[in-house]
Amino acid sequence: MSDGTDMSGGTGTERAARRDDAVRAAVEQGLLGPGTPLVGLLDVTGIRESAAALRSAFEAVTAPGTPVLHAFAVKASPLVAVVRLLHEAGIGAEVASPGELALARAAGVPAERTVLDSPAKTPDELREALSLGIAVNADNPQELERLDALVKSAPGTSSPLGIRVNPQVGGGSIEALSTATATSKFGVALRDEGAREWVVRAYLDRPWLTRLHAHTGSQGIPLTLMAEGVRETYALAEEINERAGRTQVDTLDIGGGLPVNFASDGTTPTYAEYARLLSETVPGLFDGRYGLVTEFGRSLLAKHGTVVARVEYAKSAGGRPVAVTHAGVQVATRTVYAPGAWPLRIAAYDGKGRPKEGPDVVQDVAGPACFAGDLLAVGRAMPLLEQGDYAAALDTGAYYFAHHYAYNSLARPAVYGFAGGGETGVTFAAVRRAQAVEEIVAEAGREYADSLTGDLLRGRGGAS
Ligand SMILES: Cc1ncc(COP(=O)(O)O)c(C=O)c1O
Repeated sequence: MSDGTDMSGGTGTERAARRDDAVRAAVEQGLLGPGTPLVGLLDVTGIRESAAALRSAFEAVTAPGTPVLHAFAVKASPLVAVVRLLHEAGIGAEVASPGELALARAAGVPAERTVLDSPAKTPDELREALSLGIAVNADNPQELERLDALVKSAPGTSSPLGIRVNPQVGGGSIEALSTATATSKFGVALRDEGAREWVVRAYLDRPWLTRLHAHTGSQGIPLTLMAEGVRETYALAEEINERAGRTQVDTLDIGGGLPVNFASDGTTPTYAEYARLLSETVPGLFDGRYGLVTEFGRSLLAKHGTVVARVEYAKSAGGRPVAVTHAGVQVATRTVYAPGAWPLRIAAYDGKGRPKEGPDVVQDVAGPACFAGDLLAVGRAMPLLEQGDYAAALDTGAYYFAHHYAYNSLARPAVYGFAGGGETGVTFAAVRRAQAVEEIVAEAGREYADSLTGDLLRGRGGAS
């Protein structure tokens, strides 16, 4: 789909119009300017539309009454207000660290709508999850042993428990996000010798294991491969249930991973397309015998975020114009370090926040960090960015400006959600305030300023 109708949440053109309104309003309302040259903006209308599209896509293919929990992968946008917005839109939380769990709880997501999935859970984390009643997917045999001990010492936990498997169906175009390769670190590698039988036995020996989990990968994984991973997982659930002689596995957690189109404003693929493909590839999964959990992250947020940065200087080097902006590696880490895998569209706005007109000029868009590779775009043809203009990195609502990287001690920017627009005007709400310089110094250990130069050298050190 180009820029036309978007089956999963409004048209891309409407979203682009909302974004343009928001950038202009951010400048007019003083959220952006010479003193605040960097901000993250979130389109609340768009996020709600994506949540609704996800829910209706699966409602359309599941048997009536099937329990379905869509758990937002908090790692995609670890912001309390975002997790609460999604919670109110009927979406739970998938968490993968104590921080993400605390954040989901702060957002008000109840335990029964939370899933814990991290690959390196400590005994304390597992104990806490079970005492809260949060669903846990064990990553490996050693973690299962820890669950054994916890279940024995505190029987009757309400946590649904399962095992994560790696269906080893292969990778996609981004190696770092391919979780179902032969040697991936995640889950029990199902095709390794003896592994499948080990998993089946693990269930037969533990009647309290009722879920099965796989996440076949994220951005760059073809939809057909994702569906293949789900099919393999379903086949394993069927085998366990047949050998158990009952419906022991009652819920499949099929992970997230729907890829996002970073090349235009259109939403492709849509949740509806993926749900349809799944229902064709694995019809038995949707006939009402299994509950479902999904864990989408990027596809719920990416298209609804924009990082906007002021052009501090416009210069030229080797005949090429370079716009030096305030957005670089600290807010677009993946793009800066792996530009081939993570290209971003850049939109040009003038000093009043209006879309810039003018002929395309090939230019670089640089960030503020002190290394040559700190570039958001290289050799990009777009209207010439000049001093005082704004450069917007589009589709950055997931895994970008909410994931600050502290290079050069650059401050975390403020994040605002926006709604409204047109004649009624755009309204902003703070989601996260900008980090103050004093906070940077405190986090850099100000209270320990003397720790390496005082008593330690005189033999009277002692960590406290
Ligand atoms: C277990 C698990 N579930 C869900 C996700 C979310 O994936 P995505 O943001 O691509 O939907 C991830 C991403 O790393 C993951 O590891």
